[in-house]
Amino acid sequence: MTNREDMTLTSSGFFVSQEAPIVTDNPIATPAATPPDVLRCAYMELVVTDLAASRVFYVDVLGLYVTQENEESIYLRSTEEFIHHNLVLRKGPIAAVAAFSYRVRTPEDLDRAVEFYTELGCEVRRNRDGFVEGIGDSVRVIDPLGFPYEFFHQTDHVERMSWRYDLHIPGELVRLDHFNQVTPDVPRAVKYMQDLGFRVTEDIQDEEGTVYAAWMRRKPTVHDTAMTGGDGPRMHHVCFATHEKHNILAICDKLGALRRSDAIERGPGRHGVSNAFYLYLRDPDGHRVEVYTQDYYTGDPDNPVITWDVHDNQRRDWWGNPVVPSWYTDASLVLDLDGNPQPVIARTDSSEMAVTIGADGFSYTRPTDEDAMPEWKQGEYKLGHQL
Ligand SMILES: [Fe+2]
Repeated sequence: MTNREDMTLTSSGFFVSQEAPIVTDNPIATPAATPPDVLRCAYMELVVTDLAASRVFYVDVLGLYVTQENEESIYLRSTEEFIHHNLVLRKGPIAAVAAFSYRVRTPEDLDRAVEFYTELGCEVRRNRDGFVEGIGDSVRVIDPLGFPYEFFHQTDHVERMSWRYDLHIPGELVRLDHFNQVTPDVPRAVKYMQDLGFRVTEDIQDEEGTVYAAWMRRKPTVHDTAMTGGDGPRMHHVCFATHEKHNILAICDKLGALRRSDAIERGPGRHGVSNAFYLYLRDPDGHRVEVYTQDYYTGDPDNPVITWDVHDNQRRDWWGNPVVPSWYTDASLVLDLDGNPQPVIARTDSSEMAVTIGADGFSYTRPTDEDAMPEWKQGEYKLGHQL
């Protein structure tokens, strides 16, 4: 049960508190081993079914830089990146995620990763030569939530393309910003990630304390990954940052001009959570890619944790625009360490879509305005079917 009296209601309509107001009744035991010191989300290994079609999407349309490629794989990076890649596209039979990869501070942190996950009883594999090109000694695990996590330190350095304005496009993707994972039990996931050294920056709850999503960080931004409540383990999206809002609008204009507007799933818009400007795309296999800009600094130890009411219809879109149902229901499979899809376990807690959309759900723009919506507004798509 979450006691909102322990939180402060801000003038913006959400709550803040000093400690993450999330408690699990089904905890994963905290290992005695020291966790690896994670620097940041670094890259995702994505299995795609049509490498040529994916190359058009990620290289020709979105403008990621090719570090290396062959007939089986393409290694891509964003403008400001100096490590070998932020995204690996690997050809395979089933569209899925093979690894969520984090960079750790030192080579010794890989020993810590092995100890930490071995103590958790997880499957752990270490490859001194790396599992992919451009990356050295690496540890891959199936974590307690069923996700394929990777940790590495050594990587080939490549040129940072920031100064190559001659190559930049209007929708330039400058950094990998975060992952987003779908998992049935968000409080359980949060507690394990806190043991791994992550901190909560924002979450979505109801008054009874059901947690629908939580955002967690190592680098000093809103997140390196988020845990979204739903059937999982699945990958909800991978996100790249742009410098400015206009870069995101330029991507939309380009997709329209290419007659690829069907790649746009949701947005552009302004998030309530994270305050970032956003756009959600679907790649040729349906993998969801977010483009995002201008969240905020979170690096101080007493950074306030933000809690949004699940019925606040500005939490996922600050302008109150609808969240399309596919955004709630669709996500990518994740693979085990042998390349087989992980089984998906259903969420048993309330679903955010069910409690906020349609006849069974409700939401508000102003919490004190119950029944204030005029009749003509009630049938309107925007508010009548909105979160
Ligand atoms: Fe995101």
